[in-house]
Amino acid sequence: PDRDLLIGRLPKCELHIHIEGSLEPEMVFALAQRNNIRLPWDSVEALRRAYAFGSLQDFLDVYYVGMSVLVTEQDFYDLAFAYLRRAHADNVVHVEMFFDPQGHTSRGIAFDTVVNGLSRACAEAREALGIRASLIMCFLRHLDEDDAQRTLDAALAHRDRIVGVGLDSSEHGNPPEKFARVFGRARDAGFQLFAHAGEEGPPAYVWQALDVLGVARIDHGVRAMEDDALVARLARDRVPLTVCPLSNVRLRVVPDLAHHPLRHMLQKDLAVTVNSDDPAYFGGYVNDNFSAVARALDLSPAEIVALARTSFSAAMMSEEERTRAL
Ligand code: HPA
Ligand code: ZN
Repeated sequence: PDRDLLIGRLPKCELHIHIEGSLEPEMVFALAQRNNIRLPWDSVEALRRAYAFGSLQDFLDVYYVGMSVLVTEQDFYDLAFAYLRRAHADNVVHVEMFFDPQGHTSRGIAFDTVVNGLSRACAEAREALGIRASLIMCFLRHLDEDDAQRTLDAALAHRDRIVGVGLDSSEHGNPPEKFARVFGRARDAGFQLFAHAGEEGPPAYVWQALDVLGVARIDHGVRAMEDDALVARLARDRVPLTVCPLSNVRLRVVPDLAHHPLRHMLQKDLAVTVNSDDPAYFGGYVNDNFSAVARALDLSPAEIVALARTSFSAAMMSEEERTRAL
């Protein structure tokens, strides 16, 4: 209770949120109706029952069907604005929002439709709520590198509205090195670089994300704890890790929150942040993640404050913006 008051009051940044993963079941059905899309579930309750995942792939199978209700620019705007309003209620002051363009262009939705809707929501939320938000485009790693290259080509026309590129979707069998060339081009074009690694995949994928792709942050990274040399490297360079506790439980990366490695990560001096990943699917927004993991691991007020502060040092902000936000 005191802990939750503190969590609620702390300003924080959210650095690992897939905007399509903020699509609540009610909005899935409302948009399906608006766009005349047939869904494989006949009610909100049936869709919620599908949220019993045994693995990352189980989740992704539902996630890609869920996002198929997003068709018009207004749909993307509504989705992002609803998330930003919800994040603002959690005292999130800065968001770096992932989106999955290939999940839309593969269905015939124009890249521009996606980016126009999302970026307009970010701009209007800044005006209306004061929350800052930027966009990070993720490549789907289960697709080939040529598909990622074409997606990067499309993004170049929106260079001013996309701050970075990331890597997500099915990790097993899709190592970061598969995307070495497209990440090189993205770097040359001035994008910040991020990658999911060490969620289900092995520590070797985290090494590759750092040394082959050259990313600025690791998304998840919990399996890095299996490799002492990697832990030392992440600590030495203060590489931020965007950890998502409720996601890790729902996707069975950890058996339960009491066994979550977050406390050990803090003890190893890793730059850990707490995030929601896909809040509509995993049972909570960022404060819910803070609250659940703080309770399960009995985190002290000082540890909770440290996690929130690290979200600012890990964010893509100038020193001036950081000072003003804190
Ligand atoms: N991992 C990989 N891909 C994803 C995730 C995730 O947690 N969420 C949405 N796409
Ligand atoms: Zn993620």
